[in-house]
Amino acid sequence: MAEKHAEKMEDMMVPAHVAVILDGNGRWAKKRGLPRSMGHREGCKTVEKTVELAARMGIQYLTVYGFSTENWKRSSEEVGALMQLFRYYMVRLLKIAKANNVRVKMIGERSRFDQDIIEGINRLEDETRENTGLTFVIAVNYGGRDEITRAVKRLAAACQEGKLNPQDITEQTIEACLDTAGIPDPDLLIRTSGEIRLSNYLLWQCAYTEIYVTDCLWPDFDQEELEKAVAAYNRRERRYGGVK
Ligand code: IPE
Ligand code: IPE
Ligand code: MG
Repeated sequence: MAEKHAEKMEDMMVPAHVAVILDGNGRWAKKRGLPRSMGHREGCKTVEKTVELAARMGIQYLTVYGFSTENWKRSSEEVGALMQLFRYYMVRLLKIAKANNVRVKMIGERSRFDQDIIEGINRLEDETRENTGLTFVIAVNYGGRDEITRAVKRLAAACQEGKLNPQDITEQTIEACLDTAGIPDPDLLIRTSGEIRLSNYLLWQCAYTEIYVTDCLWPDFDQEELEKAVAAYNRRERRYGGVK
């Protein structure tokens, strides 16, 4: 049975870019009578496993939503716990990235983080830049509207300085100013925990992305769940996007 399943997976087209809204850490913890921070800890472990899995499956880009611009509004206790987890998992991630030939890139506005976290992010990017396998993009203090606003500011400044003519602004010019410049648009967006919304994630980039929502809570997400999402993607008939 397992062999048959594997055979089937081999016939599938693996999406080049998978974006994930990991959701449900809090609900996972609540179900077990645990504090929310325990859910986030399990969620971090799932991120690690998913990076290894995606690298093995031949996915080229995996973009995971780690912390949104709206998540600062959570209790200071929860935000503090999340920051501590970042500190810890950044070190682990560096090891995993090196062992799996993974290039790490962060998107989002990093200046709001504490200095040591910023340094950790820079180090992760610098030390994995030359890796040629999976590109793992992690969105932290990320919001699609914030990203577009920052891009517009850069374009407006270029116009003001006389370096850019407003008439020459194209979709490509805008894309080049987004945090995701140089990264192809996601083919598949997976959201766990059943909510059917974008929550300010990759608003520009997901214009034609196939969306897959599962009730599975993020800490429970595993190979079988990822394969189910890829199988669903294979059943979709895409109109735009994908391989050009
Ligand atoms: C996702 O899990 C993790 C982050 C947003 C940081 P949640 O914390 O949103 O979990 P639920 O939605 O409360 O279950
Ligand atoms: C989206 O999840 C943000 C991240 C996964 C980091 P949320 O749980 O914060 O989103 P909402 O509140 O359900 O929209
Ligand atoms: Mg949530």
